[in-house]
Amino acid sequence: MLISGGGSNLRALLEACRDAEYPAHVVAVGADRAADGLAHAEEFGIPSFTVPFSSFDSREAWGDELLAAVQQWQPDLVVLSGLMRLLPPRVVDALAPRLINTHPAYLPEFPGAHGVRDALAAGAAQTGASVIVVDTGVDTGPILAQERVAVLPDDTEHSLHERIKPVERRLLIDVVRGIADGSIELGTASTP
Ligand code: GRF
Repeated sequence: MLISGGGSNLRALLEACRDAEYPAHVVAVGADRAADGLAHAEEFGIPSFTVPFSSFDSREAWGDELLAAVQQWQPDLVVLSGLMRLLPPRVVDALAPRLINTHPAYLPEFPGAHGVRDALAAGAAQTGASVIVVDTGVDTGPILAQERVAVLPDDTEHSLHERIKPVERRLLIDVVRGIADGSIELGTASTP
């Protein structure tokens, strides 16, 4: 799993993996900075690594280093969950379609780094959460799961995001379970 922030989605998946019946487990957690969420990996005894974006001259050089670090773990699936960086095409091509992302909006509505803020600014009555296969676009990959979340009149970006996240976490846990038990075929998920 790759994160940049608090890692609430990461923690939810780590907790789901505690159930012996859950058909997946997290092998490593990576971050593009000293993310607070790395503390969850520490607490659950999961190895972690950091490839600081700021240490590289280019997105491509960072991406190549991140890809090498990810591939060391030979993951069956890479989950972006709050990674606030666009992966260079070389990295996406190497990992997709076994590369998924969670997004706090009802894609294709409000793609990009500020999906929650954009939904509020648009005056949307509802937004949502989505889990997609990552492609070389920005949140444009095949949708694996999504669910609507109401926008309340007094919502702030924070309150709305905090209401979206539990939905995101539930969708992520369900999608990872489906990929692990074969009920979700990623190969067919790629856009034609
Ligand atoms: C999530 O809503 C994710 O979809 C978005 O940023 C948030 C990360 O939250 N990209 P957390 O770090 O999992 O708490």
